[in-house]
Amino acid sequence: MDISKSTAWVSLQKHKEETGSRIMRQLFEDDSERCTRFSSEAAGIMLDYSKNRITVRTMELLVELARTAGVEEKRERMFGGDPINVTEKRAVLHAALRTPPGRPFIIDGLDASSEVAAVLEQMKSFAGKVLSGSWTGFTGKAVTDVVNIGIGGSDLGPYMVTEALRPFAHGAIDVHFVSNIDGTHISETLKKLDPETTLFIVASKTFTTQETLTNALSARAWFLDYAGEERHIARHFAAVSTNRKKVVEFGIDESNMFRFWDWVGGRYSLWSSIGLSIALFLGFDRFSELLGGAHAMDAHFRQAPLEENLPVIMALLGVWYNNFFNTASHAVIPYDQYLHRFPAYLQQLDMESNGKRVTCGGETVGYATGPVIWGEPGTNSQHAFFQLLHQGPGVIPADFIVPLKSQNPLGEHHDMLVANCFAQTEALMKGKTAEEARQELVSAGCDPETLAMLVPHKVFPGNRPTNTLVFDELNPFTLGALIALYEHKVFVQGAIWQINSFDQWGVELGKQLAKAILSELQGDVDAAGHDSSTNALINRYRQSRQKLS
Ligand code: F6P
Repeated sequence: MDISKSTAWVSLQKHKEETGSRIMRQLFEDDSERCTRFSSEAAGIMLDYSKNRITVRTMELLVELARTAGVEEKRERMFGGDPINVTEKRAVLHAALRTPPGRPFIIDGLDASSEVAAVLEQMKSFAGKVLSGSWTGFTGKAVTDVVNIGIGGSDLGPYMVTEALRPFAHGAIDVHFVSNIDGTHISETLKKLDPETTLFIVASKTFTTQETLTNALSARAWFLDYAGEERHIARHFAAVSTNRKKVVEFGIDESNMFRFWDWVGGRYSLWSSIGLSIALFLGFDRFSELLGGAHAMDAHFRQAPLEENLPVIMALLGVWYNNFFNTASHAVIPYDQYLHRFPAYLQQLDMESNGKRVTCGGETVGYATGPVIWGEPGTNSQHAFFQLLHQGPGVIPADFIVPLKSQNPLGEHHDMLVANCFAQTEALMKGKTAEEARQELVSAGCDPETLAMLVPHKVFPGNRPTNTLVFDELNPFTLGALIALYEHKVFVQGAIWQINSFDQWGVELGKQLAKAILSELQGDVDAAGHDSSTNALINRYRQSRQKLS
């Protein structure tokens, strides 16, 4: 089915033509109940989506689009373990990882819940030993630092979560994340560490990722340089992977391996043993609370009517702007410094999932799929790129995320933070008319000539859409729910766009070419087999390498 030819899609196009120029300011003035009408709550998270360019009819039509696209059926197929990742013939069951223990779930006709429970138990026991100090390094000292070596989904999720939940840290260890192939990343990290008290977790779903294996080899060399004997590696290296063979080949003790399964996508894997660094940093009980929050959002997503369903509403609003207003990007602004890695985490979640140009059936899509996701915490972002949000010529929808309680209450700081968050969404919605700008300048005593010159620069068009997500406190439970909310939003959008949100073939070509170029950079002859730009760049590097060696 070409969704863009469906009655629901065509009705939305018509609706956009008829109502797209309506002004939110006016919609608020006309309806004192607008916020109540357009807000919903689940798992401790309140979504206020009233500052969007929508009417009741818009939402009805969008929900109709979701039904036409088969979102409900697809959701059940996902939770039911069907191989909805069609190009890789895999089920998509990250949600099963946060199902409370004892509830069966079926993959390929088999109940996988006991395997999941066994790995969780292994993580719990290991985290318990490390945090109590009973797991020691080769000289008998307790572990003080854990280094997670991974990239993409094997890095972004655990890194974001451990940063977000620093106030809930167990305290016995610190965690560090090394992802980049740039030697600076591991070198700078190792400078601060003591080999006697450092534990490395090599996290890679495939255990074939160049960056991770290269960094792991450098970590191994650094460790052996100090420890001397290979037998000591068993006390200092653990692996998280689906690929037992490769882990053993790499030289990591099988008893230090934590499994997961091919039905967990890399960017959906923080709930699996990829979350080991989280469990070590927070303690296993906090990790369980994170799973609990995600499960609460799963239950809401599965059961709530589409009209009240947070992930569905956020997905539909994204589709509304992306496909009917042709917006190309979407900003995410957490008003919480602890969430500073959340936009980066969402970039992979959203853009690796929905950055697709063909449908599940292989037809080229004739509509946009997935905007550019970007953002930075507020209030810093206000002093950096908010000018573009307020007065740039294009519309950039944005999510504002704010906890009502601060983890670090300090004078008026939190009141000010929250005031800024709410003020920005109000300003983006209301804007400032030419008349209001003129009045302000008159009151400030501006002379007529300057006034005439300044007015166009002082006008804010407004009518810029935002969602506001609020919750009492950023804790393991609410963070779990927040992440799951965005995961399911991405799922619903992929379902509407008829694409496979669970593969990522687009990352392959660059990897293949890098292998070929690497051998040319290191070889004896100048490159000649590429385009002239690539040849010249390779040869320039080769010359500088020779000069510097
Ligand atoms: O190259 C992209 C990717 O495959 C991501 O999807 C994945 O999260 C990342 O690389 C790391 O993969 P792995 O966990 O197998 O090392």
